Amino acid sequence: MREDILNTKNEALAQIMDTGSQDELENLRIAYLGRNGKITQAIKNIKNVSQQERKSTGEAINEVKNAIETFIAEKKNAINKNAREWFDPTLPGIKPKVGHLHLVTQAIDEISGVFEKIGFRRVRYPEVEWDLFAFEGLNMPKDHPARDEWETFFVDSPENAKFGKIVLTPHTSNGQVREMKRVKNPPIRMINIAKCYRRQSDISHVPMFHQFEGLVVDENISIVNLKGTLDYFAKTFFGEGRVTRLRPYHFQFTEPSFEVDISCGLCGGEGCKLCKSGWIELGGAGMVHPNVLKAGGIDAKKYSGFAFGWGVERTYMMKGGIRIPDIRLLYSADLRFLTQF
Ligand code: FA5
Repeated sequence: MREDILNTKNEALAQIMDTGSQDELENLRIAYLGRNGKITQAIKNIKNVSQQERKSTGEAINEVKNAIETFIAEKKNAINKNAREWFDPTLPGIKPKVGHLHLVTQAIDEISGVFEKIGFRRVRYPEVEWDLFAFEGLNMPKDHPARDEWETFFVDSPENAKFGKIVLTPHTSNGQVREMKRVKNPPIRMINIAKCYRRQSDISHVPMFHQFEGLVVDENISIVNLKGTLDYFAKTFFGEGRVTRLRPYHFQFTEPSFEVDISCGLCGGEGCKLCKSGWIELGGAGMVHPNVLKAGGIDAKKYSGFAFGWGVERTYMMKGGIRIPDIRLLYSADLRFLTQF
């Protein structure tokens, strides 16, 4: 009898496994556990088993009964789950999420487009750079105190007799001498946009940021040309009615040098709560120093030029409608922040 019970168990489990519907499963439950089912019959027949085997046979029947009940319950859940996962091809599809260009990439595209319209050519120069292009060629001899302002990352590598040490370029001005050497004979109208690196990190500084550097060299280039170009940029990029003003400043590689301000978009230069003075600081500019022209192999008696270099992130953040409380958020890779733009 004990062997019959175990065979019944195997037979029941195989049949339950094969069922695909709740109706078939219910029929199997009745066939095994119902009032006249095989297991119920076995329980009734236990009185015919000899006294010695009755206990072990009873235990075997109970074990088989429990196994069949558990298996039926599990199968019931599985059939229900499959029913829920049924695929309806007539339902509208789920739109996949589409990414977009990073805010800084959008800014770079827009800025280069503004300058390309008036004949500037977009160039790229190395971010891992020789001292000669990052400093010395820009009228900052070795050990000159002005170098301190650039809070530079140095690369741990041997010094080259002609080019000096290797640094991560702290500004796009490294492109000035490189562009002069490449073009050789002016006119030059360069817009160099690249990553820059400085040992700085706070709400308005990131250790890796971008600058865009304009350089124009030709005969008879004067401050008037610089001012006209800056006003054109202000109007095209920030909007009609915006103008720039120049404040005297000092850079080793330009003479004279200026800080460039843009008129406030809210008050138009009158002074308001946002800007206080009516003007917002944009970045540096100036007339190319004769020593820099010389370092680039350009005849400083025949040619003159202007240059400017501003931060892409800060300039873009000044555009109306984009308020970012901490510049570091731009590089946080936080999609909740980035998908807003
Ligand atoms: C320069 O880097 C000069 N090379 C600019 C220049 C070019 C002057 C050509 C004259 C002629 P400055 O250190 O001020 O200047 O940096 C220029 C701009 O870069 C700043 O106004 C700011 O917008 C941006 N900037 C500088 N450091 C950071 C930083 N750590 N994080 C984000 N933006 C920065």
